[in-house]
Formats: sequence, structure tokens, C-alpha cells
Amino acid sequence: MVTLGIESSAHTFGVGIVDNGKFLSNKKDMYAISDKGMIPRKVADHHSDASYAVIEDSLTYAGISLHDIDSIGYTKGPGIGPCLRVGELAAKTLANKLHIPIYPVNHAIAHIEVTKHLSRFKDPLALYVSGGNSQILGVVASPFKHYTVYGETFDIGVGNMLDNFARAANLNPAWGSSVAKLAEGGKYISMPYNVKGMDFTFTGLLTNAVKMLDKESSKDVAFSLQETAFSMLSEATERALMLTSKKELTVCGGVAQSARLAAMLKGMTHMHKAKFYVASNEYNADNGAMIALVAEKMHMSGAKIKDKDCNVQQRYRADTVRITW
Ligand code: FE2
Repeated sequence: MVTLGIESSAHTFGVGIVDNGKFLSNKKDMYAISDKGMIPRKVADHHSDASYAVIEDSLTYAGISLHDIDSIGYTKGPGIGPCLRVGELAAKTLANKLHIPIYPVNHAIAHIEVTKHLSRFKDPLALYVSGGNSQILGVVASPFKHYTVYGETFDIGVGNMLDNFARAANLNPAWGSSVAKLAEGGKYISMPYNVKGMDFTFTGLLTNAVKMLDKESSKDVAFSLQETAFSMLSEATERALMLTSKKELTVCGGVAQSARLAAMLKGMTHMHKAKFYVASNEYNADNGAMIALVAEKMHMSGAKIKDKDCNVQQRYRADTVRITW
């Protein structure tokens, strides 16, 4: 059972291949982000130009040909519309040519599931943190099996918050890691801390941090911004861990590449005798293997996909997806 997955929701065009849960390849080509951020049409053009070579590269690395593929998956959303469309078109073209089933995959669920798969955890709580998203999720059985969102950002994702701060501080991309580098050795300055139950907001913190750049050293501001944002995420996640009585926590998504965030969460779970797992950067960055993995799970569990559902959805929420596996 071999599945090829295509990821194209943001700056990465990725193609992964999985065979019964074993990753055979995970190749990608990333759009180089300028200081102006991402212009959707230009990123989509990049994906379109890169698609053939990345698919070829992934097949070659896996040591298989197109005709060995049994099913195909692509990212339906959430993401940037024109970028999602490139992946959708590539997947539909391959599925039609090969006469194989096609599965539209939720990007957030793919991040969570690939991390769960690698951790071998049974029923973890997941903190999903990326540019556009910051959510705390777990699987519930009722009224149908799905990921419920216990808490989330009410405004911007923590990744976008770090990106915006990095632009204001004239840092180079990749912005999240630039902020982390600048923050090394900084000292703490008090910042707005906005957690309500298991939800949180980041814009007040961002506005304050940008203003402070005029008065304080950028190192201290970056350190304090990072400590405050990650503490907010840790507090909300801790509350969700207590509420659900779960004994396993994963963190996933682009911001899960932050060593400081992982260390904070690890310390918190240790206090509650819960297990903690963070995947390697290869699987926290956007990638095709996670899309292939979920498409394979959908295929093997007999998920029925209607033609009308094979589209893209920029705001495709994880909690609307029925889990069939
Ligand atoms: Fe992502």
C-alpha cells in the first residue's frame, strides 16, 4: 500500500511517499521568503514550477515509479488559496492518469498525526503552533470521532506574531529562529500576558514588544516576547492537560522547531508525570510525508470521498473533519 502526499499550503511544495506507515521519501522545494513576506501569486508560481521536479525527486529517492502508487493525498487547507490550488491540481492530474483514489487532507491534522505516529503515543493532547495557527487539540468520540479544539488563539498565530516582530526588529528570515537567536542571553522585561482559560491572544503582546524596541535593547525585548508567548501557550496547554486527564502531550507545526518552547512544555509535562514528544524539524516544517500518512490512513479506513469534497478550503478547520481511522 503506497501513498504519495502533496503539501502546498504555504511556502513549501513538498512530496512524501509512505508505505504502510513507513516513510520512503520526503522531498521539498521552498519559496525563498523576502522581507516583504509571501505574495500568494508568486508562491503559487514557484510551486507550479517546482512540482514536476519534486515529484520526480521523491519517487527516485523512494526507488519506485508512478505506477507503484496506490492512492494520493493533497492538502485541502487551511492555507493560501492559490498555493493550495497547485497541489490540488497536481494530485488530481496524477490520480486521473493512474486511476487511483484521491484524498483531501487537513493540514493541521497532518501535523498532529505525523507527530503522533512518530511518538507512538496512543491518545495525546496536541499543541499545534505554526504561522497562521495556534491550537490545543485532542480526539473525542462524540458526536462523531474528531479532533476537538480545547483552546486557540483569538487573533493571530504565534508564528505570525514572531514574524511580525522580526520584521519590526529588521531581522532576516527565517524569522522565528532569528528571534530565538537574538533572544539568547537577554533579560526579562514585563510584557502583557493574555490567557483566558485555554484561549489566548498575541496582538497586544506584539504591539507592546514593537513599541519597546524604541526604548529597550532588542535582545531583551526578543527574549521577553518569546518567554511571554511560550509561557502563555504552556499555561493554556497545562490547563487542557488537567481538564482532559491525558497523560501524553505532543507539540507540532513550524513553531514546534523552537527548542525553548519544547523545553518549557517538557518541564510542564514532567511536573504532571505526563509523557512529551516533539518530532525532528523535518516533520515539524511543512512536508509531504505527513499528507501521505493521513491519506493512507483515510484510504485504509475506507473513508468515502465525494468528488465535491476534492477542492481547497483556505479556512479548513481541524474540528470539522471526521476521523475514520
Ligand atoms: Fe504547517
